[in-house]
Parts: sequence; structure tokens; C-alpha cells
Amino acid sequence: MATAKAHTNIALVKYWGKKDQDLIIPQTDSLSMTLSEFYTTTQVVFDPTLTADQVTINDQAVTGDGTNRITRFLDIVRQLSGRHDFARVNSHNHVPTAAGLASSASAFAALAGAASRAAGLHLSRRDLSRLARRGSGSATRSIYGGLVEWHRGHDDATSYAEPIMEKLDFGLEMLAIMVNTARKKISSRYGMQSSVISSPYYDSWKDVVAHDMATMKAAIAARDIPAIGHIAEENALRMHALTLSADPGYTYFNSETLTAITAVRALREQGLSCYFTMDAGPNVKVIYDRHDRDQIVDGLAQTFDRDRLVVSPAGPGIEIWDENN
Ligand code: DP6
Repeated sequence: MATAKAHTNIALVKYWGKKDQDLIIPQTDSLSMTLSEFYTTTQVVFDPTLTADQVTINDQAVTGDGTNRITRFLDIVRQLSGRHDFARVNSHNHVPTAAGLASSASAFAALAGAASRAAGLHLSRRDLSRLARRGSGSATRSIYGGLVEWHRGHDDATSYAEPIMEKLDFGLEMLAIMVNTARKKISSRYGMQSSVISSPYYDSWKDVVAHDMATMKAAIAARDIPAIGHIAEENALRMHALTLSADPGYTYFNSETLTAITAVRALREQGLSCYFTMDAGPNVKVIYDRHDRDQIVDGLAQTFDRDRLVVSPAGPGIEIWDENN
């Protein structure tokens, strides 16, 4: 039996498209910040008496499609370890009240950590990152804390994450504006593939990411938070342009998303250095220096209830507890 705790991450340079859908090899590199306030703890035990994998998430039994994705992932762990028993998986998503920022990144990183250890494997963090990638691309980066880069690589061995700065020594912080906690209608998995296949801008996106990776790393090295925020905001908008330009086109924005973006831009016009990013859902995340936190929270609280504003500094990498021996 083993337990793992992994935190979710938010990309500053986004991953949006796969080269290999089975191995989850991305089209581009990406770069993220791991968050302290959102994490998953998962316990796994392989049990010879079971006749199928048994999964609970937040104490609710999971059935159907939800279990299939987990069983496919556990099959990889069984293949790697030579252990063939089915497993009992108990997972808890720790998200602040009113959140709904449950994430496949923390979920598959924690599952990779707990399942591999419960099966008797002691993987290096690089190999854990490769394993987590097989569950969900963004999980590749959740093995590490702080600022993390996922090298796209060209095969299973070369596509893994590496920390850029595991413990932040400057004030970069994020705040999530919880605009809507409903489940997203278009999964990132489906959405990104549709962008790869049908957006006429997809090739340009690869150039955008190559450029943004270089400027983002320089901005991080310089601890230049306005530059980090600016690059992240432009990168997110260009990623979302791939959804609008797909056939059929779609968007993860809703009207509250636009309200949030407008509020962030208004604060910026008042002289506060804050920027936004968004993923495959309507919630908006704000990027800023922690010294400006109170003013930014007060400013956003004029538009959104305070319980919808969740501040998160950078968080740590994965922790794994071996409960067998
Ligand atoms: C917009 O990692 O959820 O958050 O690999 O298909 O599981 P799959 O996709 P997923 O996509 C994340 C997309 C994103 C950007 C990012 O995290 O880099």
C-alpha cells in the first residue's frame, strides 16, 4: 500500500496538442507553476482478491468511463512492475470551498506516485514524470514543485518534466477567480486534438510556444514578474485563439470570464501589475507579485465575492509514503 500527494499546476506557456495520442507526446514544450492550494492525495493497494480495479474519488465510487481511464493507467503500472493484481484506489481532491478546480494534473501525478510505489517500483522523479504523462499531459509537470518545464521530447523516454526553480525565491503568486464550477463540456483532450487537426493557425502556435519558452525562461531568470505575466497572458490568448479557429469552432470563455478579464485589465490600467491566464474552462487565474496581493484582492472583490477569489503561492513537488515496509 502506498499514498501520494501531488499538487496541481497552471501553465504559463501552455501545452495544447499532441503528436502521439497514445503515449501523450506533446507538439510543443510547456512551462508551469505548481500551486500550493490545490492538491490530490491518492492511496493505492494491489489486492489479489479483487476481480476489477475499484476506485473512489472523494469517497464516491467511480464507474464507467472514469474507471476505464484509471484502469488503462494501472495497466501500464502492472506492465512495468510485473504485478498483475487489481487495485483499490482512493483519491481525494483538496480544493478550497467554491472551487471546482479539480485537475487531471494532480490526480494522475498522485496516482502515478502511489500506484508505482504500491506495485513495488521505486522510480526516479524523471521516470515518475514520464509515467504521470501517460495519464494526462499536464500531470507530467506536477511531479515537481515551483516552476517546471516539460520537454516535449520525441518518444516515451525523452518526454518528461524538469524543475526550473523548485522553491521560488521571488514573489510570483497566482489567484484563481472561480467564475463557474460546472463541469466543462469540451475536454482538453478532445479540444486540443480538434485544434491540431483543424485550426489553420496550429503551425504558428508551435512558433509562438518556441518563442515564449525562451522569453519566459529569461523572464524567470530575471525574476521579472511583469514580463512573466505579460508573456503568460499573450500565450493563453493565443492558445484560446486555436479553439475559436478550429472547425467547428468553440470557446471555454463564458460571460463571467470576460468580466474577470475586464476587471484584471482595469486594475492594470490603474497601475497594478497583474495579468491573467486561462485553461480549458471558464475560470481565470491572475498572476502578480505577492506584495500587491491585498490591493489586487480588494480590487477584484468589487466585482467578485471574496469566497470566489483563491490565492495560491507556489507549491511543492510530489510526496510518496510507502505503507508496506
Ligand atoms: C489548457 O493535461 O488535461 O491546461 O493530456 O489530454 O490529459 P491531456 O490534457 P490535459 O491538458 C491541459 C491543457 C491546459 C494547458 C496546460 O496545462 O499546459
